[in-house]
Amino acid sequence: MMMRVRQEGEAPLKVALLGSGTVGTHVAKLILEHGDDFAARIGRPLELVGIAVRDLSRTRDDLPPELFTDDPQALVTRDDIDIVIELIGGIEPAKQLILTAIDHGASVVTANKALLAAHGAEIFTAAERVGVDVYYEAAVAGAIPIVRPLRESLVGDSIRTVMGIVNGTTNYILDKMTTERTDYQAALVQAQELGYAEADPTADVEGLDAGAKAALLASLAFHTRVDSNQVPTEGITHIVQDDIRAAHEVGCVVKLLAIADRLDDSQISVRVHPALIPLGHPLASVSGAYNAIFVEAEAAGRLMFLGPGAGGEPTASAVTGDLVTVARNRVRGVAGPDQTNYNNLAVAEMGAVQTRYFLRFRVVDEPGVLAAIATILARHGISVQTVLQTPATGAGPLAAASAELSLMTHVATEANLVACLGELNANPKLRSDVRFLRVEGM
Ligand SMILES: NC(=O)c1ccc[n+]([C@@H]2O[C@H](COP(=O)([O-])OP(=O)(O)OC[C@H]3O[C@@H](n4cnc5c(N)ncnc54)[C@H](OP(=O)(O)O)[C@@H]3O)[C@@H](O)[C@H]2O)c1
Repeated sequence: MMMRVRQEGEAPLKVALLGSGTVGTHVAKLILEHGDDFAARIGRPLELVGIAVRDLSRTRDDLPPELFTDDPQALVTRDDIDIVIELIGGIEPAKQLILTAIDHGASVVTANKALLAAHGAEIFTAAERVGVDVYYEAAVAGAIPIVRPLRESLVGDSIRTVMGIVNGTTNYILDKMTTERTDYQAALVQAQELGYAEADPTADVEGLDAGAKAALLASLAFHTRVDSNQVPTEGITHIVQDDIRAAHEVGCVVKLLAIADRLDDSQISVRVHPALIPLGHPLASVSGAYNAIFVEAEAAGRLMFLGPGAGGEPTASAVTGDLVTVARNRVRGVAGPDQTNYNNLAVAEMGAVQTRYFLRFRVVDEPGVLAAIATILARHGISVQTVLQTPATGAGPLAAASAELSLMTHVATEANLVACLGELNANPKLRSDVRFLRVEGM
């Protein structure tokens, strides 16, 4: 058996860091402070040779000023760099810098979900051609190990479903709405004050960030290629306090979920939307800005991954985990496993999704209305599991003569539900439009 013996005095592996913001600053500190441990774990020391930023005039506390440059291109075109860590974010210049680094023979570690979900194919293909690594554990759920479990630990199993709370901002907002009965706007302002939400929260609250992560999770879980533009996303801006209250009355909470599941041999569903989940489901108790990913695999059964999904220091843990792994591969002269996509699965339209639905609306409070509604639902192939009827609250003659109906359906096809909603909303016995939320995990 051949054994690699560590050579004392071996040259360090050279590392370039692009970006020293929320995450990059902590990554630089970990590399500089834990150099001896990293060297022992890798078998060779690491040398941080440069940190590229946009604005050189900013004070960078605790980090050696001589490392900083505002010329990332000069770093990625050096032929002696072994590993480039990209923590700039966004599409450009990150994409061009990563492709240039690969062309110059460097392995890459990145946390950039937006880039990989939109241009992953081009980047992974370039890396495979050159024989270098692209690792991205931090891109999906911050500190939570989920990329490697899907790519390596579960690669001998068949994944049925991946369902996750992968956006801390929206989970914080929904959690506040649930526990403190605040409305959406007040919860958003609180999240912004605490630094959980950006000044422009669109990417989070409209589900776009979760959509990019859903694309990455689906690609890994089903050995196929899913781009973020294939993922239907619905955010949480339309959720009102009454939705949360009504969900609670049927033993559920509302969460923004990223879902990837296998529909049949040729297609998967990948989507992001708010949904009711039963209080007993493992995802129901994930609170605050935490993230969690629930995986169901044929042999392994149900698995749950939980932890901080963002934040500079937790995310830096996942980045340095990748750094050590990629460095070990360099020392052994190998690249890690390729991103396999041999399945070529189609991503189904939302209309093909099959799930349960929770419908809520006001109706005229008179005999026969419930039967008429059940008939309309049945005409569209939708059967009702439970019905809850409460007298409508509020003032005025309409409220006095109406009742609120909450219906939980059995599993139905989304296209049928949409057609049914059209008919229900046109029915004169309804005193309000139907509000509907999907129900998962039942
Ligand atoms: N923050 C989190 O909790 C978190 C969690 C998971 C994943 N991520 C991902 O990690 C990546 C970094 O996020 P972050 O929050 O650390 O971002 P950030 O705080 O905005 O930092 C970005 C860094 O990139 C530098 N930069 C921007 N444009 C540049 C350019 N053209 N050339 C050179 N440097 C440039 C900035 O320089 P200046 O310092 O001069 O402005 C800054 O140091 C993103 O892909 C993000 O999605 C973040």
